[in-house]
Formats: sequence, C-alpha cells, structure tokens
Amino acid sequence: MSILQNKIAVITGGNSGIGFATAKELLLKGAKVVITGRRQSAIDEAVKELGPNATGILADTADLSHTDALVEKVKKLHGKVDILFINAGVGSFFPLDVATEAQFDQIMNINFKGAYFTLSKFLPLLKEGSSVILLSSVSATTGMANSSVYGPSKAALNSLVKVAATELAPRKIRVNSVSPGPIETPILDKAGLDDATREGFVTAFTARVPLKRFGTANEVAKLVAFLGSDDATFITGGDYVVDGGVAINPILG
Ligand SMILES: NC(=O)c1ccc[n+]([C@@H]2O[C@H](COP(=O)([O-])OP(=O)(O)OC[C@H]3O[C@@H](n4cnc5c(N)ncnc54)[C@H](OP(=O)(O)O)[C@@H]3O)[C@@H](O)[C@H]2O)c1
Repeated sequence: MSILQNKIAVITGGNSGIGFATAKELLLKGAKVVITGRRQSAIDEAVKELGPNATGILADTADLSHTDALVEKVKKLHGKVDILFINAGVGSFFPLDVATEAQFDQIMNINFKGAYFTLSKFLPLLKEGSSVILLSSVSATTGMANSSVYGPSKAALNSLVKVAATELAPRKIRVNSVSPGPIETPILDKAGLDDATREGFVTAFTARVPLKRFGTANEVAKLVAFLGSDDATFITGGDYVVDGGVAINPILG
C-alpha cells in the first residue's frame, strides 16, 4: 500500500539501526527518502541496499555548518520535506561521579543540540501538513543508572516536542516523539562497553521488559511511519513508547 506516495522524508542517522529500518519502511510505503550519517562508506552501503528512491548525504549532526549544507542539498534535490525523522543519536553510559565534560558535550551536541538545530534549520522546507518525529527514549523518564547525560539529552527532546508542536500548529506541522525501550541495533556495540558489561546490560534489560525480549528496529519503524502518514493528522505534541511494556514499571509483576 502506497500511503506515503509523493512524500519526501529526511532521516538523520539513516545508515544503521532504527533509522535504516525506517528508511526501508517509508520506501515500502511509497516515499522518497534522504538519509544522513557521519561516515560516507556506511551511507553508500545503505543507499545501495535501499535502492533508487533513496539518497545519502554526509552530515555530522553535531556540526551546524553540515546541517546548513544538508538543508541546501535537500532543497535542491526535492524542494520540500513532508516527513522529518530526527533520529541520529549516540548512547554512552557511565556513573555520575566519573562523567567528563567531553562525554557530556559529545552526547548533548549530538542528541540534543544536533536535533534542535536540525528541526529549526529545516523549518523553511517543511510543508504545511508535514510531520516531524524525534527519536527519544524511555531513558528520558525512567531514571536508569548510568544514564545521567543520555537520559537528560532525550528528556530535552520531549520538552522540545511540546514547544515545537505549539509553535508549528498554525502551519499544521505535527511534532511528536517516539520513545523506544531496548531495541536490537548496533548502538550498544558503539557505546564502548566491554563484553561482560554489555552482556550484563542485555540480561538485566531483558529481565525488566514485561515482554521479555528486545524489540526490533522494524517495530519502531512502523510507529514512525504511522506518525509520518496522513493517518495521524490529529496527533501532535505527544510521546509514544514502543518498549515491550518497560514503562509500566509494575510494583509486582
Ligand atoms: N537501540 C536502542 O535500544 C534505543 C533505545 C532508545 C532510543 N534509541 C535512540 O534511537 C536512535 C537510533 O539509534 P539506534 O539504536 O538505531 O543506533 P545506531 O544503529 O547506532 O544508529 C544511530 C545512527 O545515528 C548516526 N549518528 C550518530 N552520531 C551522528 C552524528 N554526529 N551525525 C550524524 N549521524 C550520527 C549513526 O551513524 P554511525 O553508524 O556512524 O554511528 C547511525 O546511523 C538514537 O537516537 C538512540 O539514542 C535507541
């Protein structure tokens, strides 16, 4: 079914994990897709797999000059954006007492500052009736140990969503966030955890999920595709969890 026919979608961090699965899903539903990433080789490989309706543009979301160039390239290529999926992000987990300024800046610059300026700089290209989806996390609201920078970087997005949804409502632009629980993607491999810590993390997380498994990137992609479509035209300013029930947080279970 081509419910996204004639839609132009931009996905930041689209060469891997949730962004890549969403690119596949939006293409399947008829959209044309632009993906970004910070490594040309990974972007090229992804575009090859996604096919002729996908374009890749190198853009480090933490570098605002890259975002300016990205907006110009998308303008030349398509002239408009119907779905903006602000997904690029990094995960890094450490206790509060050992956090460094460099770690703080890296996470905030990518997850929050990058997301903020991607949204603000794409505003001129966003069509009336377009949809913006920010990729947040259940970590924004769950107080997980070792997420003292990652969690707030995502909580800031939840707040931004509400303000942006209010400011952009007159243009009928909808703004929502999606908050996944644990999803099987390469993000943990990139977090610099040693094998034992990684294994412990996966086991502990799985035990806490009522559905007793990690989700797949495709399960997140389907929610993003719905929010991006004209089936969701009365939905704005919200945060939607896709987490196997983690946010229920039962006292007994
Ligand atoms: N997986 C989970 O359990 C989970 C749960 C909740 C929220 N999230 C969020 O979901 C989003 C996607 O993560 P994922 O799990 O799909 O991980 P992923 O496979 O590592 O995907 C992240 C994507 O963002 C890109 N990226 C990172 N920093 C960037 C930068 N500075 N500029 C441009 N692109 C950049 C990555 O590029 P590289 O390939 O070069 O790294 C990759 O394409 C993130 O915002 C993450 O915080 C994930």
